[in-house]
Amino acid sequence: MDSREIEADLTEVLVTEQQIRDKLAELARRIEADYEGRDLLLVGVLKGAVMVMADLARELKPHVNMDWMAVSSYGAGTTSSGVVKILKDLDSDLSGRDVLIVEDIIDSGLTLSWLTGNLASRGAASIEICALLRKPDAAKVEIDVKYLGFDIPNQFVVGYGLDFAERYRNLRDVAILAPHVYS
Ligand code: PRP
Repeated sequence: MDSREIEADLTEVLVTEQQIRDKLAELARRIEADYEGRDLLLVGVLKGAVMVMADLARELKPHVNMDWMAVSSYGAGTTSSGVVKILKDLDSDLSGRDVLIVEDIIDSGLTLSWLTGNLASRGAASIEICALLRKPDAAKVEIDVKYLGFDIPNQFVVGYGLDFAERYRNLRDVAILAPHVYS
């Protein structure tokens, strides 16, 4: 789906398909250098991370393993501890593995805060984060993200895996959703 075909639903295109592609190539070169000679396990967080995972993994030159988790969102006003439920767990044993969590967006940071803690308890050799987008103004907890694509404003964004009511995930760009769509 192209932004110009749903122009009326969008306020602004924030990050284009080409900018995403260029940024993922840049991040992939850093990841390749940092993990040279090591076996990397990419862990994608469903469903939003599907596009980033697909494009980042194909951009990486060495072999990588890919695995997936699905987690439930926390309720409003809750903290990160104990409020995230695993809906689909990893198939892989993490003992001694170098893990790179792949996410589409860091919003409040609560999901990744909980997830890094959870994965760390499984004996991984290392855990780092790659996130395409981050909303600094929405942060409730500080997340140490090693590979970051873009900082974006605290607006309702869709596309490239990000949804509104399960729609717009297949939009090629990342764009701000027009308020009339959700209000
Ligand atoms: C989104 C996104 C992250 C999380 C980030 O997932 O993919 O996992 O929210 O938000 P946070 O930093 O405030 O925790 P969502 O729960 O919308 O599920 P989805 O990926 O299936 O759309």
